Amino acid sequence: MSPTLRSVGASVTARAPAKINLYLEVGERQPDGYHPLTTVFQAVSLLDDVTVTEAGATSVEAHGEGVGDVPTDDGNLAVRAAHALARHVGRQAFVQIDLLKGIPVAGGMGGGSADAAAALLACDALWRTNVERDELLELASTLGADVPFCLTGGTALGTGRGDVLTPVLARGTYHWILALADGGLSTPEVYAEFDRGPRPEPRRGQVVADGPGGVLTALRSYDPVALGASLRNDLQPPALRLKPELQQVLRAAQDLDCLGAVVSGSGPTVAMLCRDGEHALSAAAELSGMGVCRTVRRAHGPVPGAKLVTD
Ligand code: C5P
Repeated sequence: MSPTLRSVGASVTARAPAKINLYLEVGERQPDGYHPLTTVFQAVSLLDDVTVTEAGATSVEAHGEGVGDVPTDDGNLAVRAAHALARHVGRQAFVQIDLLKGIPVAGGMGGGSADAAAALLACDALWRTNVERDELLELASTLGADVPFCLTGGTALGTGRGDVLTPVLARGTYHWILALADGGLSTPEVYAEFDRGPRPEPRRGQVVADGPGGVLTALRSYDPVALGASLRNDLQPPALRLKPELQQVLRAAQDLDCLGAVVSGSGPTVAMLCRDGEHALSAAAELSGMGVCRTVRRAHGPVPGAKLVTD
């Protein structure tokens, strides 16, 4: 059922992008259970639309592919965002939330975080609370490590839990294909598997002390070949141990002549960097026929962060 058919009150829609981690270095687990990260995020053109409508109680409904796995209780990140903003401004969070999912669910692309970011913006507009940007970012970081980035979008370096952001100078547009897997991976489980496994080693030919330097240099000078060679994700080995079939997907990226491939965040989506839009188009068609993943999407980045949708 379309959100507008069920709605009687005023409504506002906000849209937020998915993210890919071009670089993700994970440190030792801290006493609070979190891991210090050094990450480079890029926002890409897979989008979730979040519509909030005045209602007599708080509720959430998800629409689109794979929504069976989206929680519809208070654990839903968009619901938590509405509650957090309502508490912040001292009002009740009575809204009906409709999520139109374009971002793979439990795919490692920040879909839940995007919903939280969009819900913050949409509720702020619906309630006319005009919360300052800095305060919204602060609220965002209480909701999840990736939520601040989904608000800001573009390309950014993330430190702390990934929530302390510094904008990164990035030129040009990058073209990706995304291999979506059957079933998701749970982020806490991937981090727990990281804790059990051997400490990450630098890839052959890569200098550990360089950190995200290779990625940042490639972005600054728009060098897709260098970016492809510098992609790194410390959560990839644990994600592969939990879902060994992802090896085949990474191998497929080589057969497709991609510039590089990496598990996105905690997975299981694999992001493959293409030479240009045309290469992405042909590689996506070929990958769809290879039978190594559930479905294939194309996306480009960087794109802006969460914003209101005006008709
Ligand atoms: O912050 P978010 O809710 O997205 O994190 C989900 C889970 O991922 C956390 O509960 C934690 O287990 C793990 N995590 C982590 N270190 C980070 C970010 C997330 O261990 N920096």
